[in-house]
Amino acid sequence: MNLPFAEPYKIKMVETIRKSSRVEREQWIKEACYNLFSLRSEQVFIDLLTDSGTGSMSDKQWSAMMEGDESYAGARSYYRLQEVICETIGYPYFLPTHQGRAAENVLFSSMVKAGDILPGNAHFDTTKGHIEFRKAQAIDCTIAEAFDTTYECPFKGNFDLNKLEEVLKKYPKEQIPCIVVTVTNNTAGGQPVSMENIKRVAALAQKYGVKILIDAARFAENAYFIKTREQGYADKGIREIVKEMFSYADFMTMSAKKDAIVNMGGFISFRHREDWEKCQMYTIIYEGFITYGGMSGRDMNALAQGLIEGTEFDYLASRIGQVAYLAQKLDEYGVPYQRPAGGHAIFVDANKVLPQVPKEEFVAQTLGIELYLEAGIRGVEIGTLLADRDPVSRENRYPALELLRLAIPRRVYTNNHMDYVAAALKNVYDRRQVINRGYVIVKELPIMRHFTVRLRPAQ
Ligand code: F0G
Repeated sequence: MNLPFAEPYKIKMVETIRKSSRVEREQWIKEACYNLFSLRSEQVFIDLLTDSGTGSMSDKQWSAMMEGDESYAGARSYYRLQEVICETIGYPYFLPTHQGRAAENVLFSSMVKAGDILPGNAHFDTTKGHIEFRKAQAIDCTIAEAFDTTYECPFKGNFDLNKLEEVLKKYPKEQIPCIVVTVTNNTAGGQPVSMENIKRVAALAQKYGVKILIDAARFAENAYFIKTREQGYADKGIREIVKEMFSYADFMTMSAKKDAIVNMGGFISFRHREDWEKCQMYTIIYEGFITYGGMSGRDMNALAQGLIEGTEFDYLASRIGQVAYLAQKLDEYGVPYQRPAGGHAIFVDANKVLPQVPKEEFVAQTLGIELYLEAGIRGVEIGTLLADRDPVSRENRYPALELLRLAIPRRVYTNNHMDYVAAALKNVYDRRQVINRGYVIVKELPIMRHFTVRLRPAQ
């Protein structure tokens, strides 16, 4: 008999979490103006809001923190991190930042101007925010199949190369600072991009003389999918695949809160010295001196160790295996989600669960609130609230998909927690016919409204 896969670690420290009653949760969600971001974490039993900064660090990471060098300039921790980034990513230059969006801010400050065009495979919302804030445009070139949640294909995060080429043909290269390749494609459901697709994007970039940026938040999970799904990669190591992925790009931004398994941190890494030099001024004004850029020495040490652990095959197999485990339970219960399961999360197809809720009343948000009321589980809406309004018309943008994302923190929950989540979703699914109305906006910010929006029940 084949031995089942088991986590390549054991648990050394635990944190108590508390169940609550439905009556308590009804009160709390009302006080939070029906925004899951506004709940206190103590009001949540299983927190699947995000896999960002919510992972468990290892004993090795904690011990590395004790050895952090807190010198303002030239800290040992900076050089240690540089060494690991260089070994993992393969680029010689880097700038630390306090998280991923700070990396975007620094890089885009140096190269994005009003009127620019940045094609990509479903830019993450902060990336799009940084582009639109500079009056530039993010054009989505993800394959159309990504928007059919029932369609199974191994690399659903891929670029539609024809769409991409149309954009590259239409605008002069001076107007295209870079193509943004997001691995894995978070917005499409944590879906991977194949090496073949990255290679072809790189060939187009070369043909039209534009650069490539990899948004690398979940680069190791993408490499795992390449190894396990793409022909020719089964015998290659994760780190070898990672190096090949980055070999096709010019620079990368990293939210280390994901695949580097730290609670805070990020960086930009560069192939070309001139790009690194152009960004230094922005690091200094926004983040800090170029050898710490928003991170303490101990944080850089933990990050360096996290990059090593986050690119180990056995760890990735158990991490992505846990997401697949939850997916398998949902299959048993018939709950529809973006198929196949992604790397970091399950994206429940809210339009399929609650087709009767009007789209103006935020379908995925409604499902998220129902799941919280049912069992104290917090997910996040990836739908109309997140999509914001059109910057010109100020009308709601209705995305092709209304999803409730259940992101699984790294090394935090057990499969018993996954069973609990699946059972709660089943209960909501079983009473879906009586959920007819959603929510309306009381107050919102002009950009990235979902974080702070206040809502009230529609009826
Ligand atoms: N790029 C991707 C693909 C992301 O998923 C995120 C963050 C960022 C960039 C920004 O990084 O948060 O460190 O500033 N995603 C989180 C999430 C917030 O929940 O998916 P950050």
